[in-house]
Amino acid sequence: MAAGNCQQTGHNIQPPQTKDEPMQGRVAGRVAIVTGSGSVGPGIGNGRASAITYAREGARVMLVDLDLAAAQATEAMIRDEGGDCFCFEADVSDAGDCGRIARECVARYGRIDILHNNVGIEIPGGLTETTAEDWDRTMAVNLKSIFLLCKEVVPYMEEQGGGAIVNISSINAIRTLPALSLAYAVSKAGIIAFTRDVAVEYADRGIRVNAVLPGMMATPFVVGALTEAYGGDVEAMMARRDKLCPMGRQGDGWDVARLSLFLASDEASYITGAAMVVDGAQTARI
Ligand SMILES: NC(=O)c1ccc[n+]([C@@H]2O[C@H](COP(=O)([O-])OP(=O)(O)OC[C@H]3O[C@@H](n4cnc5c(N)ncnc54)[C@H](O)[C@@H]3O)[C@@H](O)[C@H]2O)c1
Repeated sequence: MAAGNCQQTGHNIQPPQTKDEPMQGRVAGRVAIVTGSGSVGPGIGNGRASAITYAREGARVMLVDLDLAAAQATEAMIRDEGGDCFCFEADVSDAGDCGRIARECVARYGRIDILHNNVGIEIPGGLTETTAEDWDRTMAVNLKSIFLLCKEVVPYMEEQGGGAIVNISSINAIRTLPALSLAYAVSKAGIIAFTRDVAVEYADRGIRVNAVLPGMMATPFVVGALTEAYGGDVEAMMARRDKLCPMGRQGDGWDVARLSLFLASDEASYITGAAMVVDGAQTARI
């Protein structure tokens, strides 16, 4: 679409920004930690897209992942574009690792401005199928990890006079989806409550905390976690998920990244304690 004035309204219409277009330094000079910055499969997941987006917008990025090779793939993509980042192997469900993440970031970059909590796992199943172990693991990886890492990072942000935290939840926190994942849904709902309470606690200290609720996104995460729950055929699953979306298509990692970038940037300086969907109207319809 060419840029120009809309004949009907006279408004200036700009073409949508493409996924590869460099943007405008919206987090220039900032330091970001992105957890789960690799991807469980080939392609661009939510964490990878967010890490690349922060780097494109001028942040120096610490790439945390349990799978070092996955983080290194993201590192290569960022460095290819001239960005500044480094990888750090850690399990965010481990308290000791969370302490190491915060200390290493400050040791390398001197500060922490943005904490992007992306790590999440989904073990499909309702009450019958979900085991106590599935429940505990999901809570530890999806929810306790955010608590642990915030406890380590927030004191640095407080000392600096501020910071922004973006927690990746899911629309499954507020809606029941076709493939039941009970533990996952409850953990993602917990993220919203955590976000709200910590946002209020730190509102007068310049630390903003927001949650992003992605809808159905076509990412390697979905292929890994849900193919079986949709009958085992990836193509059929993706087609079904596209159909379930009011826009006729799923979103992708870049959609999650752009909302996260906005929330992490000064453009969102009066937004804290919010839970925002990026879902192509899925929750609006259900
Ligand atoms: N794709 C969707 O449809 C969708 C929808 C709603 C929410 N989400 C959320 O988005 C996030 C996933 O995004 P993604 O595409 O980056 O996922 P992903 O599964 O590709 O994971 C990214 C990385 O997280 C790492 N990881 C897993 N456990 C870890 C741990 N304990 N410590 C450190 N790293 C760990 C993996 O090694 C992987 O490289 C999750 O929180 C998920 O719940 C996804």
